[in-house]
Amino acid sequence: MGAGAVCSGKYGELSNMRKFVILFVGVAALMFANSVEALHTGWTADEGAEKLKNPFASDAGAVAEGKKIYEENCAKCHGAEGKGKGASSMSLQIELPDFSDKDMSHAETDGEWFWKIRTGQFEMPPFQLKIKDDEVWKVITYIRTLAK
Ligand code: HEC
Repeated sequence: MGAGAVCSGKYGELSNMRKFVILFVGVAALMFANSVEALHTGWTADEGAEKLKNPFASDAGAVAEGKKIYEENCAKCHGAEGKGKGASSMSLQIELPDFSDKDMSHAETDGEWFWKIRTGQFEMPPFQLKIKDDEVWKVITYIRTLAK
């Protein structure tokens, strides 16, 4: 034991530090590439999704049920009024859609939204294993009522 051991100890620390820096830079680059891609590609549902019919469209009971599902699963990001200003939206990189905007809300069919909510993308989590298909339709029926 002597100067040599101390020296190699220091060297070991340095190379760990280096590994950490490389890992950090790698992860940061990956996250950046991911977000750039998501921001620029837009998001379209699979072909054919637009033709799926909402079995609960304009069903008054579904609106009430959909509201509950929305408040439990969606409001933290999309906001209670659907304007995309929920508490968690602050930490997201993507600007959330405004469901209360008629133009936005009517740009896509219920079928396309059904596909998107089940599938998810980037910061929008997939819900196909979290909520039942009927519940996805009901939550869509509710979101439609937010557009004035
Ligand atoms: C963790 C935050 C988060 C949660 C929770 C969340 N969303 Fe989203 N949602 C997003 C983001 C971010 C986008 C935009 C994704 C994009 O454009 O790439 C999005 C997009 C959408 C879209 C697509 C709108 C469009 O532009 O076509 C719909 C519909 C939607 N969400 C519905 C829901 C519903 C319904 C729930 C609850 C069951 C929900 N979201 C829960 C973050 C969230």
